[in-house]
Amino acid sequence: MTDRDKRLAKKLYIKTYGCQMNVYDSARMSDVLKPLGYAPAAEAEDADMVILNTCHIREKAAEKVYSELGRLRPLKLRKSKTGGRMILAVAGCVAQAEGAEILARAPYVDIVLGPQTYHRLPEMVAQVARAGGHVLQTDFPAEAKFDFLPDAQPQGVSAFLSVQEGCDKFCTFCVVPYTRGAEFSRPPAAILAEAEALVAQGAREITLLGQNVNAYRGAGSDGPWGLAQLIPALAEIPGLLRLRYTTSHPLDMDDALVACHRDVPQLMPFLHLPAQSGSDKVLAAMNRRHRADDYRLTVERLRRARPDIALSSDFIVGFPGESEADFRATLDLVAAIGYAQAFSFKYSARPGTPAALLPDQVPDAVKSERLQRLQALLGDAQRNFNARAVGRTMPVLFEKRGRHPGQLVGRSPYLQPVHASAPARLLGAVVPVRIAAALPNSLAGEVVLAAESVPS
Ligand code: 5AD
Ligand code: SF4
Repeated sequence: MTDRDKRLAKKLYIKTYGCQMNVYDSARMSDVLKPLGYAPAAEAEDADMVILNTCHIREKAAEKVYSELGRLRPLKLRKSKTGGRMILAVAGCVAQAEGAEILARAPYVDIVLGPQTYHRLPEMVAQVARAGGHVLQTDFPAEAKFDFLPDAQPQGVSAFLSVQEGCDKFCTFCVVPYTRGAEFSRPPAAILAEAEALVAQGAREITLLGQNVNAYRGAGSDGPWGLAQLIPALAEIPGLLRLRYTTSHPLDMDDALVACHRDVPQLMPFLHLPAQSGSDKVLAAMNRRHRADDYRLTVERLRRARPDIALSSDFIVGFPGESEADFRATLDLVAAIGYAQAFSFKYSARPGTPAALLPDQVPDAVKSERLQRLQALLGDAQRNFNARAVGRTMPVLFEKRGRHPGQLVGRSPYLQPVHASAPARLLGAVVPVRIAAALPNSLAGEVVLAAESVPS
């Protein structure tokens, strides 16, 4: 590093909230700021720029942002007193939804930027550095931001690739159609090129991301492509051992995509398919546009195509008007499907969404009690699922070193984290592991084959 480089070297700290889309977006923001001399900082305390990449999906997620801003304020002050400067930016969906309100509540924030404007971040930083003041950019520009982002940087063995953004479904509880905008799908050629670059940089698994990923419709040279065209094309990339995609809507689980789970060995037998509720009345009020039995049939179709497919879901309890009988219908669905894992949330009224205006909001105590019952059932299901792995040998893709020396951590095909003693050269390889023990959230096992005969 030359003296000039050292002078220019700056530290960037990004704190990410919420979904995997945000994890991906944070990596891309870090990529666009690299040419300005920003390198990652371990702590906000050391940083010249701090970005909070926020989530607006539930009230708690949004409130966390304001408390984190309160914690950062004295750090920023201290830095300016010692002649330095900390640029503070709020990105993501809270920025999109509450832009001006953030600047009113926390006027020491320098930049507020929505998810569609990350490629313009260097301009915004330059503007703040030169002229001071605030920058607020929360529009949905007509240009596709992906065309303006630099090539993806190495992400390690398991990489994310954003193929689709936004959502046209308008579930009545959800802010995503408002914060992320209309559905947009990247063209297959750009996705294939990014996937090839990721594999060249060491990725062995790629998870395709989108708010509504199975509604993907990319403009191919031969017409529109769905995931059912994209997945087999990606599977042909040499060295790409595993593919996944998330998050899917049950309505878009068409036959061609289901068939991929039978026909494409690289596509892992795990699917996050949010059900939200097991009650037809609640599903209708949520505008999910399917009944509980449609969801059951979709799961049957998937299991016919790939009998060992493991399922995951999101559930909301206490949606306005949800009765005890409606809630029991959710418990019945959970019991019938047998999930490998699932997330569950108390309904949180989000300003600007139709459900926030519905009568019959459910009292918080009822929501809490239902959440507890649902989580107990889901916890049992997850423990059963993990316990069934004990004694089996599974192909594990080792992703990183474990906490203990000599230990690696990888994932089973069903997305379970697996710990095993293994040499570091097995990072990036799919290795048979005999599962010896199941913990609530992970598995432990032993590598079966001699390392020399391990297929890579
Ligand atoms: N209240 C509670 N949970 C919500 N989710 C989305 N919006 C809300 C809300 N207003 C949950 C859904 C979704 C997941 C990402 O977050 O279950 O699938
Ligand atoms: Fe939100 Fe998902 Fe419904 Fe779209 S499909 S509105 S992202 S819950």
